[in-house]
Amino acid sequence: MSKELSIETYGADVLRMTAEPVESVTDGLRKLADDMVLTMHRANGVGLAAQQVGHTEAVCVIDVPAEYDVEQKGGPRLNPGVKMPLVMFNPVITEASDDDTRAQEEGCLSFPGINGNVERPWRVKVRYLDRSGKEREQELVGYFARAAQHEIDHLNGRLFIDRFTYVKRLAVRGKLNRLKADTLAGRAGGE
Ligand code: NI
Repeated sequence: MSKELSIETYGADVLRMTAEPVESVTDGLRKLADDMVLTMHRANGVGLAAQQVGHTEAVCVIDVPAEYDVEQKGGPRLNPGVKMPLVMFNPVITEASDDDTRAQEEGCLSFPGINGNVERPWRVKVRYLDRSGKEREQELVGYFARAAQHEIDHLNGRLFIDRFTYVKRLAVRGKLNRLKADTLAGRAGGE
């Protein structure tokens, strides 16, 4: 049985820690991944990384709704072959379309109420271990590639606000300060 985990919000030290690669994919880690998938779904998120549930093992989960997996509304799926939810241990980006980047709005379960545009490569290749511990390499395009980059950033202790423009950072500074104060006082999240 999977259980819902509590989500760490901005201001929690763990969000700035670098995750440790796992040596092998154990039953305990598969259980953690399952709990993360449940937690992500309950929170209506499209991705979750270990630090967001207070862990530092390098694992993230992604589940992009089919209607987001398109370039334009109603268009063909960009990643029809990728089974979701996708569980990745030790994910690393091995290739990125640095000549094709796009800015799109992102949110993050650790930042309730805060959204902002982030510019990222449109296509990436990701190497990771799957649930059975097998090494895989997968090309991802569009929103799915964005989600993978956002989660891999988390595993490196990097947050999406770090990629906001200077002007956007100034615009959300008040909200961020309030969220951090709520986190430190134990008031954030956990609705
Ligand atoms: Ni996030």
